[in-house]
Amino acid sequence: MTARLIDGAAVAARIRAEVAAQVEQMAAGHNVRPGLATVLVGDDTASHAYVRMKHKACQELGIASFQHDLPADATQEQVEDLVAELNADPRVHGILVQLPLPKHLDEEAILNKVSIEKDVDGFGPVNIGRLAMKGRDPLFIPCTPHGVMVLLEEAGVTFEGANAVVLGRSNIVGMPAALLLVERNATVTICHSRTKDLAAVCRQADILVAAVGRAEMVRADWVKPGAVVIDVGTNRVDDPSAKRGYRLVGDVAFDEVKEVAGAITPVPGGVGPMTIAMLMKNTLRGAELTLPALHEA
Ligand code: GUN
Repeated sequence: MTARLIDGAAVAARIRAEVAAQVEQMAAGHNVRPGLATVLVGDDTASHAYVRMKHKACQELGIASFQHDLPADATQEQVEDLVAELNADPRVHGILVQLPLPKHLDEEAILNKVSIEKDVDGFGPVNIGRLAMKGRDPLFIPCTPHGVMVLLEEAGVTFEGANAVVLGRSNIVGMPAALLLVERNATVTICHSRTKDLAAVCRQADILVAAVGRAEMVRADWVKPGAVVIDVGTNRVDDPSAKRGYRLVGDVAFDEVKEVAGAITPVPGGVGPMTIAMLMKNTLRGAELTLPALHEA
């Protein structure tokens, strides 16, 4: 059996086109242009690349963007003051503090400072708290897990009563993904480094979400025939034959798992492009929240 490919790049492109059209409608109808501010502390190469991609997407979709890069030795006060300034700036509808922050900074205290109405990452305590509680809606859902859910819907998954296994319990992906799956009435198991017989647990999954950051960890014999497999991992592995000397692989051994799964996301071109598409959608929503008529509709 060969799995159906879930084309994240195509779904993301469709969402981006929808957001771009709505941005222009808002600009024309309300004279409001959605704006995203990023806060990046330090020199982490991957973080700089991610933030660049976010600004490029803003530019392509007609969203205003404001880039704030602070040195690696920025103080807690400097970062918190910047967040306070962005909270008060009416041109800014979304604030994204790129993670991870340098070790000397208190991430929780900084994320707590982001206004709930501008928390487009959904990492603030109010948004995450609402996500975790029955019958409460967060203003923003974290971008990558939200993208995972959209791709599962795209694959035609039945969530109700399905066994879902999430590999990884990070604040950014694993934990919020598990909460979103519970909300859809899946039976969810969260696996982590202390889980016993990981392969056996994964084999129970109708829906398998891999978000551990370990190259090609999920093998074919971990996957139930016909399962839907979402690969959130982006790992560099050395490859002298590649132009850059490395290639990107997911947390799933794609070539062998695609022979067992019912549907699967590729890396690259699966979950990756969805993260930015959902961030753009959340920024548009942040701007909508400032328009009372639309908000109440
Ligand atoms: N670092 C890795 N993923 C993310 C993300 O989705 N948002 C932020 N702010 N930082 C990240």
